Amino acid sequence: MIAGRMSGQAAGPSKFASSTGRIDEIDVDLLFVPVFQDELDLRDLPGVDEATGGDIARGIAAGAFRGKLYQSLTSRLTGRWKARAVSLVGIGRRRLLDVERMRRAAAACSYLARARSVESAGFVVRDGLDPMVAVQAVADGLSAAEFDAGVYKRRDDVEGSFPQRVVVALPDGDAARVSQATARGRLIGESANVARYLSNEPGNVLTPAEFAARVSAVCTAAGLDVDVLDESRIAALNMGLLLGVSRGSAEAPRLAVIRHDPPGAPRTPVLGLVGKGVTFDSGGISIKPADGMERMKGDMAGGAAVAAALRALALLNTPRRVIGVIPMTENMPGGRATRPGDVLTGAGGKTVEIINTDAEGRLILGDALWYAQQLGATHMVDVATLTGACMVALGRTASGLFGNSDAWIQTVRAAADRAGDRVWPLPLFDEYRDQLHSDIADLMNSGGRPGGAITAAWFLREFVDDRPWAHLDIAGTAWAEERKPHQPKGATGVAVRLLIELGSTDVRD
Ligand code: BES
Ligand code: MN
Ligand code: ZN
Repeated sequence: MIAGRMSGQAAGPSKFASSTGRIDEIDVDLLFVPVFQDELDLRDLPGVDEATGGDIARGIAAGAFRGKLYQSLTSRLTGRWKARAVSLVGIGRRRLLDVERMRRAAAACSYLARARSVESAGFVVRDGLDPMVAVQAVADGLSAAEFDAGVYKRRDDVEGSFPQRVVVALPDGDAARVSQATARGRLIGESANVARYLSNEPGNVLTPAEFAARVSAVCTAAGLDVDVLDESRIAALNMGLLLGVSRGSAEAPRLAVIRHDPPGAPRTPVLGLVGKGVTFDSGGISIKPADGMERMKGDMAGGAAVAAALRALALLNTPRRVIGVIPMTENMPGGRATRPGDVLTGAGGKTVEIINTDAEGRLILGDALWYAQQLGATHMVDVATLTGACMVALGRTASGLFGNSDAWIQTVRAAADRAGDRVWPLPLFDEYRDQLHSDIADLMNSGGRPGGAITAAWFLREFVDDRPWAHLDIAGTAWAEERKPHQPKGATGVAVRLLIELGSTDVRD
């Protein structure tokens, strides 16, 4: 399993298929049927209760199933239905159904199927959402649930087994479109898992060089063009900010450049995706407290999301140019580390007074944003586990969204909504910029505690000219602290779906 991931293969253990036939003809061991909390009468599922010999009606009458999200009621099918068993799965109230909820419900079903070690499982897509959006979300969720957070555990520790065959069913749907939406959802879920595997890797394994090698393997396998810059090429570009962060570490930095340049694509727009790739953030000389520091192995989740999204966009043959730039480094307190008070110079010539060496993400992104523009990006999005302040502001539910263009912020936000990756806008009023004023250099790398997520975003904005740019702070959303029915603890793959959706969107202005 580990070897497969290292070589960039993401294929999960189950084989996916789609079906557009009658619900009672679906030939699987366990068939999941979503049910709204406010529609427990099952009027639109004629015959299901009869096929269970009245089991389901008895269960509902006894209050064993109320249709709450993730709740389920399983019964053997003895009647005319081809499936061996049916599980009603709650999806909550009809008016609360959205893409994310659909995806999560499907993921939770996948865990149920695994716990029962069934050979085959099916999921029936019903009304409530655009049918193709729902099919895609279900295939995505069923795929995301294949993610294994315990890569370093003994294999015989694992509970249950994966179904060999998974069927996404849309009775009466258009077979070609359902099959296409299933494949797309599967690819998206697998790509999110690629990002999660990378983010979950420990810092001793995923050094900057190893991160670059894995990104290179994953992206090359998808047909992308990858160029990994080593320390001497980074130095030749005068990236003093990236070099300043990496100096405290025994590991040399890398900068990965990934290009999706399909033949015949228009020259512009060029979507530039920039991802923070700090493989471990100790804080440097401004060292972090010990409590929770182990989670800083995931400080490259933004970079992983960018690589995974590019992989998906390439495999989807997206007819647009996209370029990914991922600066990769450790932030460590070695003897040559940058000190508070030091002044660093970015590749574009801006000077930065280092106030806090733990504000390293913005430094490496400053150089990377500059480079993405040099390489011709016309519209940019950066993704970064940037500030604890953003987690304080928006919690673990939504990523912070910032930018220099209302239209572009709107475009990113709309893509996020369609993809089911929650984002919420925060302001970049001019007054916040004053907090970065330095007496000795062009700007300081920390604006202090007030509005910490905003001043960090303002810092990045200083490295962007007037082309459309948006920044996503995923510090609160990249890591799940608790196990949920739809997802284990650990890396979430946040922003992968959003970036795929954005890359699939027509970009103008
Ligand atoms: N990687 C951290 C931000 C972070 C915190 C991500 C918690 C995920 C969870 C970042 O490099 C950092 O340390 N930011 C500092 C900035 C401060 C020194 C201005 C922070 O948020 O405390
Ligand atoms: Mn830091
Ligand atoms: Zn960091």
